[in-house]
Amino acid sequence: MDYTKTMKVVTELVQEVGAFQIEKFKSRAFTYETKSSEIDIVTEVDKTSELMLMDKLAKEFPSFGFLAEESGEKDIDLEYIWVIDPLDGTTNFSVGVPIFAISVGLQKNGDSVLGVVYMPVTGDMYTSIKGSGAYKNNKKIQVNKTNTLRESVIATGFPYDRAENVVNNVNEFTKVVTKVKGIRRLGAAAYDFCLLAEGVYAGYWEYGLKPWDYAAGLLIAIEAGAVYEMMTKRDHSMIVSNPTIFNELKSTLI
Ligand code: IPD
Ligand code: CA
Ligand code: CA
Repeated sequence: MDYTKTMKVVTELVQEVGAFQIEKFKSRAFTYETKSSEIDIVTEVDKTSELMLMDKLAKEFPSFGFLAEESGEKDIDLEYIWVIDPLDGTTNFSVGVPIFAISVGLQKNGDSVLGVVYMPVTGDMYTSIKGSGAYKNNKKIQVNKTNTLRESVIATGFPYDRAENVVNNVNEFTKVVTKVKGIRRLGAAAYDFCLLAEGVYAGYWEYGLKPWDYAAGLLIAIEAGAVYEMMTKRDHSMIVSNPTIFNELKSTLI
């Protein structure tokens, strides 16, 4: 299948939803509720954004299913499903940190075939179609060639249940932080994959992600030359990096 038209629909749509998010972000006029705990929140902007995305995608691609963060599963047994994080970086958004993303991935029989991560504040659009490389604003991107952890800036994140679950990344963070040039926790996993893909970070790891956090970003990183491995301590946990530092990062973490 030629995904060019699909990509056009998605990139136009995320820009429309992004404009809505910016307006809300600037006005600070939105309500929120808590989800799994008092630190895991959802704003009305997350929910409306998801409805805007699903509504348009359902009209354009009526035979595709959905796995979306705020509304769950819909027809996920179909050949194609959209995997959507309507607002990745909700904590940032809710307190006023201008780092948040819209992430839309398309899976065919469980494999990611298309990914879009859009940053509403900067207008940066990261895209990939499986087998065709990764792009930032239509320019090809590649992971960097950093050779050692000492020369690397590495990203990570911490799960919302970090106070209750012992696989919370605190020990691993302590091990890596002393070995690297810098460590970052920006708070938007989809964007972490993209910064790795464009050669800003040399690596990224995180425990307990959700499918919508990485459906688009991991494809973008892989298509930019990244390698990855799932970690077994916890579901949806992974190390992703440029090929040269992978073993050093992995042996530091595990
Ligand atoms: C979260 C962010 C954060 C990561 C968490 C995610 P959300 O997503 O991507 O960087 O550390 O694991 O759940 O809740 O803002 O969509
Ligand atoms: Ca997310
Ligand atoms: Ca989200």
